[in-house]
This record gives sequence, structure tokens and C-alpha cells, in this order.
Amino acid sequence: MKSLLEKLTGIYGPSGKEETISQAIREEIKDYVDEISEDVMGNLIAVKKSSVPNPKKVMLAAHMDQIGLIVTNIDENGFLRFSNIGGINPFNVMHRRVVFENGTTGVVAYETELEDMKGLKLNKMFIDIGVANRDEAKKLVGIGDVAVYHAPMAVSGDRYFGCAMDDRAGCAVLVETIKAVKDSPNELIFVFTTQEEVGLRGAKTSAYALEPDIGISVDVTINGDTPKCRPMAINLGDGPAVKIKDSSVISHPKVKNLMIKRAEEAKLPYQLEVLEFGGTDSGAIHLTRGGVPPGVISIPCRYVHSAHEMVDKNDLDNAVKLLTYILENEIE
Ligand code: CO
Ligand code: ZN
Repeated sequence: MKSLLEKLTGIYGPSGKEETISQAIREEIKDYVDEISEDVMGNLIAVKKSSVPNPKKVMLAAHMDQIGLIVTNIDENGFLRFSNIGGINPFNVMHRRVVFENGTTGVVAYETELEDMKGLKLNKMFIDIGVANRDEAKKLVGIGDVAVYHAPMAVSGDRYFGCAMDDRAGCAVLVETIKAVKDSPNELIFVFTTQEEVGLRGAKTSAYALEPDIGISVDVTINGDTPKCRPMAINLGDGPAVKIKDSSVISHPKVKNLMIKRAEEAKLPYQLEVLEFGGTDSGAIHLTRGGVPPGVISIPCRYVHSAHEMVDKNDLDNAVKLLTYILENEIE
């Protein structure tokens, strides 16, 4: 898990530019699935067929894309103005190192005449890529190019932290689950989705095309175990979370209860998640066609959407075990 996560979090892939991460995941899973394809939106779709006739179709989704900074203007001194791809908070990006697809790196800074930091907005900020003027800058970066955090994964005890745990942690869980599932009474359709961070877009079209009987997504959630944080019954290391609701989806009781039942049967730790804001791919999947019963397995994560998102190794391992056990048994 550690080396896989280190590899996946280190790959460039903001929303709309998921080709490289998709290729890396394809290499990881291609020998473990029966079919693999990519759709118009760039979703990577891998199918594990069932040995039983007329199986239930289970869609499993984790998003490949990460948040980023998109260049909107280059000034005469070579400073880059930018807008957000996904949820970028000005305080999270300030003085962060960022990297473009071609390896150009820069630091994010702000207009220092700003007196009240509460007024800090992305349009008061810029990326300094170390050039003297616009012409030099244009040799390295163009309008519409996207930078992502440069923060290679670090390890401390059981904790992994760095950029893009949202949702490469979910991708890693799906990859390991694909490798672990032996035989399933269900047809398993693993979808590594695109453009989640800008509105669950890849999940929406892929769910429509695949017509699953049930849709499960795997994504990060936030935590309630750091000093004076928003109260929430989620602690790092206490197990993967079974989502009850967020602002995009209310899990179907049938799916939620099945997840809980399987966790208890397999004696795996789990937590229950009520997320007051934010959403995930299931928000789009469950509203497809006549509706698809949704469920979500969430990975507890601190500092979501910062350059150093932190997850716990045991939660990842237990998420793989729980998902594998759910999929190897009947989906009622
Ligand atoms: Co996110
Ligand atoms: Zn996410």
C-alpha cells in the first residue's frame, strides 16, 4: 500500500488532465481484470466478471483527479495570476510550492500591501516561477496550464501525508481491492473517475452508460480528532467510515446496513460518517436514470485540500479488507 500510494500521489493529474494517472492505474490493474477501457470523459473502466449467471452489477468509483491552480494571466514581470480547479482555499495555497505538467515549479505568494488577511482572495495572489519577464515566463507556461501542489508523500509512524490523498488514497484502495477479490457473485465494475473536484462529472456520465444495480464510491472524508476542530465522530486510525450522508448524497439504508453488517461479520473496525458539507462521486451516481442505491466507504483524512493531507495506513488496509469482503459476498 505504501509504495503504491507514494507512486499514485506523486503523479500529476488535476481535473481534466487525468491521462498520466489513468495510464499508471491501468498498468497496475490490467492483469487482474477481464476488461479494461476508457470512455469519452477519460474515465478508466475495469470489469471483473462473475462466475454466476445474471449477477448484480456493482459500480465502484474513486476519482483520479486532484485540485489545481489554472493560469489566467501572465503579467509583464512574469508573475502568473491564477484561478482554482476545485476547492482551493487561499490560506492553504499561500507560500506553497506548486508544479506544472512540464516540471516548471513555482511558489504561490500574495500582494503584500494587503492589510487585513481576512481579505485574502485568490485574485490577490500569484505564482512566482522565478523568471524576469513575460517572454521568459511564456517559454515555460501558457494560459490555461494547471499547477498542482508539489508535496511528495512523507511517512511518520502509521501516518502518510502529502498532496492528492484526495483521492489517490481511494484509487489505491480500489487497486488493492481489485488484486484481492478472488471470486465474486457480482459483476464488479471499477471506475476511476475524472473531474470529481469540479462537480462529479466523470461519475455522472459513466454511471449513466454502465447502468449499475448499486453504486459504491471510495473517497476521503474529514476528521474530528485535531485540536479544537469541528466536532465530528471520525478519528484517524479508527477504521474506514461508512457514510450516512454528506451534502451530495444520503446513503441508501440497504447499502449502508449491508456495509455495517459485513464489517461486523469480518470483525473489521469501522466508523459512521456524517459530513456536514462536501460531496463525492456517489452524489452523481445515485441520481442516474431511475436512481441507483448509493453507498460510500470513506477514508478519514486530516487537512483535506491542503498540500499535506494525512491518512492512516490501518484505515487504508481495513478499507481494502472491508470492500473485498463486501464484494466477495451477496449484495442483497
Ligand atoms: Co476533494
Ligand atoms: Zn475526493
